[in-house]
This record gives sequence, C-alpha cells and structure tokens, in this order.
Amino acid sequence: MPTLIVAKRDGSEQTVDAGTNISVMEIVRDAGFDELLALCGGCCSCATCHVYVDDSFADKLPAITADESDLLDSSDHRQANSRLSCQITFTSALDGMRVTIAPED
Ligand code: FES
Repeated sequence: MPTLIVAKRDGSEQTVDAGTNISVMEIVRDAGFDELLALCGGCCSCATCHVYVDDSFADKLPAITADESDLLDSSDHRQANSRLSCQITFTSALDGMRVTIAPED
C-alpha cells in the first residue's frame, strides 16, 4: 500500500498507509492527527487543512486553483509549498510524499 509521511508541528513524523483516490486531508485525519482540523470537511472554505508539501513532489500535484490560492492567502504562514490537503487527491504517484502540518492561524 502506498504511504504518506506526516510531520507534526512538534517535528515528529509518522508514516501512514494511504488509500488512493481520497484526499490527503482524509488520510491525515483518518490516521488520527488532530492537529489538522479540516473544519469544513473538504469544501475548500476553511484553510484549516493547510500543509507544506515536500518540494520533490511539487510537479506531481494537481494544479492549485484560484479558490485554494485565495484561501491560502488568508494564512499568515503561507509558503511557496503550501497547499490545502483537502484539494490533493492521493494517487500512487504520490507514494512516499511527506507533508508537514502548517502552524495554526
Ligand atoms: S478542509 Fe477546509 S479547506 Fe480543506
């Protein structure tokens, strides 16, 4: 099974089994990481699923939409590799990807 590496705010990491064709947010949430609030449930309206994606996977990610970019602009912690994890569908091409949960706004 493909895996996703999740880094928490304290710097600790955990590798989790990742189903495909569900969002990275769902994988992280279902693995029990309560730091990732995902308050809107994946509707691209809260930005509480903000993560940083390792640069080595940048070209494998779906393109960022205007709505996602606008929401990320509302964060004080946006970086070049910021994404909303609910907007990334996990596929086998992302096996081994590492995401870091962004600081809380
Ligand atoms: S869960 Fe709300 S924007 Fe991703």
